Amino acid sequence: MAFVAALCLSSVLVFSISSGADALSLNYYEKTCPDVDSIVTNAVNHAMMKDKTVPAALLRMHFHDCFIRACDASVLLNSKGNNKAEKDGPPNMSLHAFYVIDNAKKEVEASCPGVVSCADILALAARDAVVLSGGPTWDVPKGRKDGRTSRASETTRLPSPSFNIAQLQQSFSQRGLSLDDLVALSGGHTLGFSHCSSFQSRIRNFNATHDIDPSMHPSFAASLRSICPKSNRAKNAGTTMDPSSTTFDNTYFKSILQKRGLFSSDQSLLSTPKTKDLVTKFASSKANFNKAFVSSMIKMSSITGGQEVRKDCRVVN
Ligand code: HEM
Ligand SMILES: *[C@@H]1O[C@H](CO)[C@@H](O)[C@H](O)[C@H]1NC(C)=O
Ligand SMILES: *[C@@H]1O[C@H](CO)[C@@H](O)[C@H](O)[C@H]1NC(C)=O
Repeated sequence: MAFVAALCLSSVLVFSISSGADALSLNYYEKTCPDVDSIVTNAVNHAMMKDKTVPAALLRMHFHDCFIRACDASVLLNSKGNNKAEKDGPPNMSLHAFYVIDNAKKEVEASCPGVVSCADILALAARDAVVLSGGPTWDVPKGRKDGRTSRASETTRLPSPSFNIAQLQQSFSQRGLSLDDLVALSGGHTLGFSHCSSFQSRIRNFNATHDIDPSMHPSFAASLRSICPKSNRAKNAGTTMDPSSTTFDNTYFKSILQKRGLFSSDQSLLSTPKTKDLVTKFASSKANFNKAFVSSMIKMSSITGGQEVRKDCRVVN
């Protein structure tokens, strides 16, 4: 009782970490949709050949899905009537490539109608995004169900790029994820793009005594200032998350060690000895990063909580 009360006080979130009824398995669709993995891989591969931004988009989409209300494809639902969905909430910048999931779902439905959840398709697509960008592969446990709720107001559950290590740790631990998971999964920022608004506060008027965040390398700050105009007029301005932003590698961790992390949340991984050790370990060994990333991705993507297998990923049945 006291435990429940403490939980409710410290957070409005209670997540179900996969167990019992919703347990996932590697062979979940063995009898009902044996080719689901390769169907999704083909759809992701096809889209990626035309658009190099697709892998980053899919990886981030899966992260948002899992962090807002379990990995239940709530991120894929469209707004309806007066309900504004997650994808139309404020921190949705650079969420895109929803059509890739639609195409994969269409192909999957053609082979095995009504069987495979959109949440599983998104989890598979995120894995494929990593593999097709040169990262490690893994078998994705399946059996997620799709949720029936998506609210723009709940995107505040996502961690903010301005978070410090204590805030990040709390956000992750609320979902059963450890500091090890935080460091490994932050490595997802080896892919993709960020708008200036996500790091603007670090490069100008940081605080009363520092114009620039002192945890950022001055020359990195100078280059970001030249990319990001003072006024927020150029809304599309921004930069890649790391210098090799279409290749899944450990450059992200090397950048952090050089004080070239883009967000406060990235750079703050150096602010405790434990997380700093992990950053150093992953910067010096791609193999160690890959191994940790795979195990943390499986953990993150096993937060379940849906109810149905949606027919159309954008609308509830
Ligand atoms: C640790 C807490 C995290 C914070 C605070 C955070 C925050 C952000 C922000 C602010 C952006 C840029 C949005 C924009 O300006 O367009 C971004 C992009 C991205 N994030 Fe994260 N993120 C976090 C964790 C993760 C995780 C766990 C993953 C996946 C494993 C991930 C994958 C990505 C990817 C791939 C992009 C680039 C998206 C694109 O180019 O389309 N992030 N993140
Ligand atoms: C993001 O949200 C805004 C409204 O807050 C909406 O106009 C826009 O279409 C959304 N972007 C995506 C990619 O859904
Ligand atoms: C500004 O930030 C730096 C680094 O975080 C800190 O050392 C300094 O005390 C801050 N100044 C004020 C006035 O808060």
